[in-house]
Formats: sequence, structure tokens, C-alpha cells
Amino acid sequence: MDRKRAVNSTGERASAKLRKARIRHFLLTTGPNRLTRGWFYRRHHAEDLLVREEDIFVPGWPKAFDGIRIGHISDIHVGDLMLADRALGVVEQLRIAAPDMICNTGDLVDLHWPGVETVAEAIADIKAPLGNFFVLGNHDLLDSGDEVARIVSEAGTTVLQDEVALVRRGEDELRIGGIGWARTPAQCKQRIDRAIGDETVDLLLSHNPKALDHAAIKGIPLTLSGHTHGGQIARRNRPNANLAVIHGHIRNAGLYEHGDSRLFVTVGAGSLFPLRLNVPAEIAILTIRSQ
Ligand SMILES: [Fe+2]
Repeated sequence: MDRKRAVNSTGERASAKLRKARIRHFLLTTGPNRLTRGWFYRRHHAEDLLVREEDIFVPGWPKAFDGIRIGHISDIHVGDLMLADRALGVVEQLRIAAPDMICNTGDLVDLHWPGVETVAEAIADIKAPLGNFFVLGNHDLLDSGDEVARIVSEAGTTVLQDEVALVRRGEDELRIGGIGWARTPAQCKQRIDRAIGDETVDLLLSHNPKALDHAAIKGIPLTLSGHTHGGQIARRNRPNANLAVIHGHIRNAGLYEHGDSRLFVTVGAGSLFPLRLNVPAEIAILTIRSQ
């Protein structure tokens, strides 16, 4: 496949965004790393990963699925800041946590992705009993969203692109909606409506947390998102006072409410630039409680 001519899954030619992302990557990542003779990367690669355990009380969550543990992973960004070997270590932490379901809210890759197939296979191989789901993030689309979706799907994970999957346990059913990358609240609305029509779902996966407003209108009890990285730099003891606010992400780390709807935003396992201050990389193990 000629990646330069690839068209992403929104039908939009990706090359302009790809060029912009490469320039940003040089300015924020490879350039400073060269100037510091590799210190930035060495320090970044030595940082720990937090396994964050949270109980989330969700009005309207189906009683039959009370207490399920969701392994929420996002923004792995396989690339030069997250080499495949390191990503496999992150996935191992997820496997050890033994979640009932895995929800990956996108940005699996970033610019260069040697070894991503191995990472996708390792995630799928965890064999969470209630399934393993993935939605695309904006960085997945930079090169070829279709290619990322193919790799994830062939590994054995369900890729949700404006569609709904059903998880059955006995006679009970959990409805999971997933949308592709949507930059604005209006685009989120469009994709949510395309995915669920006049119905609703119990759980929505959206890379962008801006999906919450429309999720609340549609009566969706729980939305899981990533994308913000928690800004990667936050004020001490104030995780929500972070750089993501610059991009208009007010809901940028942790749990949020909108009416009866809940949103959890993970700060992600990988990074956009090789520095995290007061925002450690994480995977989240969420125990969902019916309320
Ligand atoms: Fe990301």
C-alpha cells in the first residue's frame, strides 16, 4: 500500500495533517532530544506507568453488569516515544489486571509504527471475557486509519466505527457504541447519531471527550475517552489545571458528570512529547457500579 496516497477513514486526505504532525514532532520531540544528546528519550522511557483503579457509580448502568471491571487503555502512541517493546510492557500490566472487558479509546500509533501488529495482537490475546473494543483516534488517522483499523481487527479486537456491539451474559445484554475520530462537539453528535440512531447504548467509546454533551442528551450512562493526555503537564495536586485547557478540553482527566451521564477521561499510556509533569502515564481499571 502506498501510505503517502492513503486516504483516512473520514475520506479526508491525510497528507497536510501528517506534514504538520511531523513538524510538531520535530519541534517538540526529536529536535530537543538531539539537542540534549538523547537525554529526553532516556528520561521519558524510564518513567513509570500508573495502574489506576477507580470505582465509578453510574446511574442507569444495567444491574446485570454491576461490578464489571473495564480495562481502559488509550493513547499508547506506538512510535519513537513508545517503542513496541515498551508498549508490550504496558499491555502486560493490563493483562495482569485481568479486566472483564478491554476498551481502547484510540491513538494506538503515532507517525512511525514498527511492531504495532505485535502490540495489537498482545492486547487481543488478553481474551477479556466480555470482549475487547477499539475506536480510532486522531493520530491513528494521520497516516492511514484504515490500515490501523485493519491491523487491530485482524488481531482479534472489535473496531467500532460509528456502530454498536452487543455483549451478552446469559439473557442480559450490554450495548456498546463506538465512534470514529470527531474533532468538535458537532462532529461527535453526528457520529453518535450515525452509530445509535434513535436507540441508546449503555457505554460509548469516543477518543474525544467532547462527546459527553450529546451522550448526555442521548441518555448514555457512561462514556470513556482519552485524547487529552491530561495535558501531560499539570499543576501539582491539581490534575485538571493542565495544558489540555489550551485546546479547549475542560474535561481533560478523570471523572465528569453531565446530568445522569458519566465520562471518564484517561490521561493515556503514551505521550505526544517526551515530558510528563504531575500527570503520570496510566492504564485505568474501572469498576462500574450501578447506581
Ligand atoms: Fe493521543
